[in-house]
Amino acid sequence: MIDVENLTKRYGKTVAVDGLSFQVRPGQVTGFLGPNGAGKSTTMRMIIGLDRPTAGRATVLGRPYAAHAAPLCVLGALLEARSVHRGRSARNHLLALAQTHGIPARRVDEVLETVGLGKVAGRRAGGFSLGMGQRLGIAAALLGDPAVVMLDEPVNGLDPDGVRWIRTLLKDLAAEGRTVLVSSHLMSEMAVTAEHLVVVGRGRLLADTTVSELIASVAVSRVLVRSPDATALRDALVSTGATVTGREPGLLDVDGATPESIGELAARSGLVLHELTPRRASLEEAFMELTEGQGL
Ligand SMILES: Nc1ncnc2c1ncn2[C@@H]1O[C@H](COP(=O)(O)OP(=O)(O)O)[C@@H](O)[C@H]1O
Ligand SMILES: [Mg+2]
Repeated sequence: MIDVENLTKRYGKTVAVDGLSFQVRPGQVTGFLGPNGAGKSTTMRMIIGLDRPTAGRATVLGRPYAAHAAPLCVLGALLEARSVHRGRSARNHLLALAQTHGIPARRVDEVLETVGLGKVAGRRAGGFSLGMGQRLGIAAALLGDPAVVMLDEPVNGLDPDGVRWIRTLLKDLAAEGRTVLVSSHLMSEMAVTAEHLVVVGRGRLLADTTVSELIASVAVSRVLVRSPDATALRDALVSTGATVTGREPGLLDVDGATPESIGELAARSGLVLHELTPRRASLEEAFMELTEGQGL
């Protein structure tokens, strides 16, 4: 469990995080979503004490991160700016981390296997590709077998295989009962990875909800209508107050009417329908609506 209470961070005149409060619960993947500059990385740094809040506080399992006797065994993090000793092998990098935190050496080989770096463990980490570097960073985060895992934009720059791998790993970690917080500026990625969403913009909380609730909350839902009588149908729909746009002849995009009401109107008017398809809002559209008027 991560508990963020009224967290605020100012850098001079910039308010990076502005009175943010949310909780991250175990057993599910929570997406921390917001455009670049929204304050996600700053919030994550404050959660692990790398940045001092201007106001408010963040706790991990009920205490400030630094107050835990073995912090790596409580929360493992991959932050945006990664630090690896470039000359060391992947195994030695992890061994050094393990030794300074009282973690048994056998755990190093376990996490190397988990992230799929077992075969290249003896290679210099400095020569790793971006994807391998991410995997090594995640291995470090998992080293202490932590109850809480926090990753900052882990899919940035990864190939589709790497993206799929991270997605599965996060779901597995959550299924083991861990608390998983993962940030992203990509709504499409969060839609398939996270169950719960904490959405931020300009340092403020915009939504704290499930992915499905967020999509359902969007007022705009359209219906696609295909009809050989499109012109007459359009006039009939507009007279009921619906908004109708057409992309091509015979095809109407209807806003402000349900498929049921459109079908019944067509029947009453003796107009033929070839297609009547409800279009659910995408998470992208939900996000756009949420951030509208926020100047994001
Ligand atoms: N060390 C810093 N010094 C000054 N400004 C910073 C610093 N870190 C972040 N900021 C500013 O705080 C805001 C939030 O940044 P950040 O937390 O990195 O957002 P995100 O991770 O959501 O992209 C941005 O306007 C950024 O320029
Ligand atoms: Mg960031």
